[in-house]
Amino acid sequence: MNATMTEHDRLRWITVDKDLPTIDRGEDIIAGLRSTPKTLPPRYFYDDRGSQLFEQITDLPEYYPTRTEQAILDTYVSEIIELTGACEIVELGSGSSRKTHTLLTAYSQLDNPLHYYPIDVSAGILRTTALELLATYPQLNVCGVAGTYERALAKLPPRMVENRMLMFLGSTMGNMDARSCDLFLTQVQQALQPGEFFLLGVDLQKPIDVLEAAYNDVQGVTAAFNLNMLQHLNDRFDGNFNLDNFAHYAFFNPVASQIEMHLKSLTAQTVQLKALDLEISLQSGETIHTEISRKFHLPTLSDTLTTHALQPLKVWTDPQSWFGLILCQRQCLLAGDCP
Ligand code: SAH
Ligand code: AVI
Repeated sequence: MNATMTEHDRLRWITVDKDLPTIDRGEDIIAGLRSTPKTLPPRYFYDDRGSQLFEQITDLPEYYPTRTEQAILDTYVSEIIELTGACEIVELGSGSSRKTHTLLTAYSQLDNPLHYYPIDVSAGILRTTALELLATYPQLNVCGVAGTYERALAKLPPRMVENRMLMFLGSTMGNMDARSCDLFLTQVQQALQPGEFFLLGVDLQKPIDVLEAAYNDVQGVTAAFNLNMLQHLNDRFDGNFNLDNFAHYAFFNPVASQIEMHLKSLTAQTVQLKALDLEISLQSGETIHTEISRKFHLPTLSDTLTTHALQPLKVWTDPQSWFGLILCQRQCLLAGDCP
C-alpha cells in the first residue's frame, strides 16, 4: 500500500437504494399495516436511535447471543483464516462491526491487501463505523454499502482481491421467515463464485426461560428498541403514533421455534402516517408483529445451506451449544460453473 494514502483515499460509498424510490414510499409498511394481523418489517427498527438501542441490547446480561458469538470467534478465528486464506470481507447487516474486529485483526496479519464491504440499511452507524475502522487499521480499504441486503447483494462492487467471504453474523438471518431466507440464500450463492466462502452466525434452540429473558430484559432496553420503530415511522413518514399507547410484547413460539416481538395497542385508536396517505385503526389489545427471531437446529440448517450450494465446511459452537458459527464454501452448480 502507498504510505501516503489518507483515510479518505481508503473509503468509498455506494448507496444502492438512492435510485429506487419505492423503498421510501413505504409500500411494505402500507401492506403490513393493512393486513390482518398487522405487521411491520424489522428493518424499520434501525434508524440512528434504533442502532444505538441495539448496541445497548448486545451488552445486556440477558442477551447472550453477542457475547457467545464473540467467544466462538475469539476461539476459532485462526481456524477460519486457515480455511479461507486471504480474502476480502463483505458483511451483511454490519451495524457497529464490533465482532468483525476479531477477523480484521487476524486477516490484517496476512500479507495481503485488506478490503472490507460493510452493508447496512442504517446509514448513520455505517458511516461512523467505517471511519472508526479506517483509523484503527491503517492498511484497510472500506467500501460502505448503504441499503438493504437484497439490493446490495445484487449490486456488489467488483472484487479487489481474488477470494471473497460473505459474512452474516448475530443470527440476523433469524429475522427472516423461511421463504425470505430461501430467497436470501439463493442471492448469497449467486453473489459468490465457486470456492468462495459464507460465514454465518446463528442462534440455536435452548431453554425457553433463557430465550424469553433475552427479549424481555429487566432494564426495558428491548422494549424501547421495539417501541422506537413507531418513532422512526413518525419521523420518516409524518406519523402520529403515540408510543404511550403501545406495549412491548415478546414470547417464544415453540411450534415455529422463534421469538416473536409485537407492539400491543393499549387502547382503541386511529393512527395516521400522512406522508404515506395512510390511516389505520387498532382495537384495544390488537398487536402489530414487528419481528421474528428464529432459533435454529444445526442439522436442518446445514441441509438448507447444502441445498443452496453452500456446503458447510466447519461448524463451531460454544460449550453449551447456544450459538453456532458455520463456514460454508460455495459449490459448483454445473461442471461448467467451476474454475
Ligand atoms: N451484525 C451485527 C449487527 C446485527 S443488528 C451484530 O451481529 O451484532 C442487524 C443489523 O442489520 C442492523 O445494523 C440493521 O441496521 C441491519 N439491517 C436490518 N435489516 C436490514 C436489511 N433488510 N438490509 C440491510 N441491513 C439491515
Ligand atoms: C438483529 N437480530 C438478530 C436481533 C435478534 O436477536 O433477533 C434483534 C433483536 N431484537 C430484539 N433484541 C434483539
